[in-house]
Amino acid sequence: DAATDYETILVTRYGPALVVTVNRPRALNALAQQVVAELLDLTGRLVEALPSVDAPAAGEWVCRGVIVTGTGEKAFVAGADIREMSGMTPEQAEAYARDMHRVTLNLEALPVPVIAAVNGFALGGGCELAMACDFIYASENAAFGQPEVSLGLVPGFGGSVRLQQRVGVGIARELIMTGRRITAAEAHRIGLVNQVFADHAALLDAARDTVDTIAAQAPTAVANAKATMNAVAHRSVADGLDVEAAAFRAAFTTEDSRIGRDAFLSKESASFSGR
Ligand code: HXC
Repeated sequence: DAATDYETILVTRYGPALVVTVNRPRALNALAQQVVAELLDLTGRLVEALPSVDAPAAGEWVCRGVIVTGTGEKAFVAGADIREMSGMTPEQAEAYARDMHRVTLNLEALPVPVIAAVNGFALGGGCELAMACDFIYASENAAFGQPEVSLGLVPGFGGSVRLQQRVGVGIARELIMTGRRITAAEAHRIGLVNQVFADHAALLDAARDTVDTIAAQAPTAVANAKATMNAVAHRSVADGLDVEAAAFRAAFTTEDSRIGRDAFLSKESASFSGR
């Protein structure tokens, strides 16, 4: 409801998805401190609100996913705001980075899928915002990169951690040390991007369709699967399997799992309760 108070992000509905659009087209949607503050407020509210929407009133709209994108056809997000950063002390720069870290952790904490719809430049902080989403779709004109070393900086919004996880150690190090920009096609080839679409409209449609597909699954299971994958990301195989075993056990306590198994055995389609 507070969505209308934001000045640098737009929050709209598209099918079952909430679309969060970074909206500073004159600066190629760069993440000025105000954008970070507004993303932090919004994502904090979503973390609070979403776990409690499992039993909506009839006809009530329920958020089944979040799509993150940028205004226009040119840029998703062209990075941190270089103009603002040039006036920051090291302490202010760290606080700026830590605030954006909280945004990325909030996106990961959401119990619904978060899809980055990368519609153009996703550089530096833009690439890092995309990587905080569960997965990335892109338009053909998208471009990715971590150009911080060209500015005498290093990735500050999570890129040092998440790029290695996404594409592996060798490619991540090459990209971060060269600052090289890559096309959507190359990003697709190295596994950073799942699918590439002709333009922004097709990209948003595809993201919405995927949210629809996921919304037809058991909501408790989707949330559990995401939380489990987050929890095991930094663990050894043995520790990760322990976490997975507990999650699998927890899935068995849900009504959704009973509904899903009964539907399969009676050859009917499942209608999940979200409990
Ligand atoms: C502030 C930016 C910006 C940015 C673009 N603009 N990127 N302003 N911060 N990151 C502004 C330009 O200054 C310009 O404003 C307008 O947007 C249009 O950009 P142009 O450069 O004129 O467009 P173009 O020539 O097409 O080049 C597009 C571009 C280039 C290749 C994306 O803008 C670019 O290289 N931007 C910087 C990309 C980058 O290095 N990002 C990483 C930032 S570091 P005016 O007023 O002149 O029209 C980072 C660190 C994260 O993200 C961690 C921090 C803690």
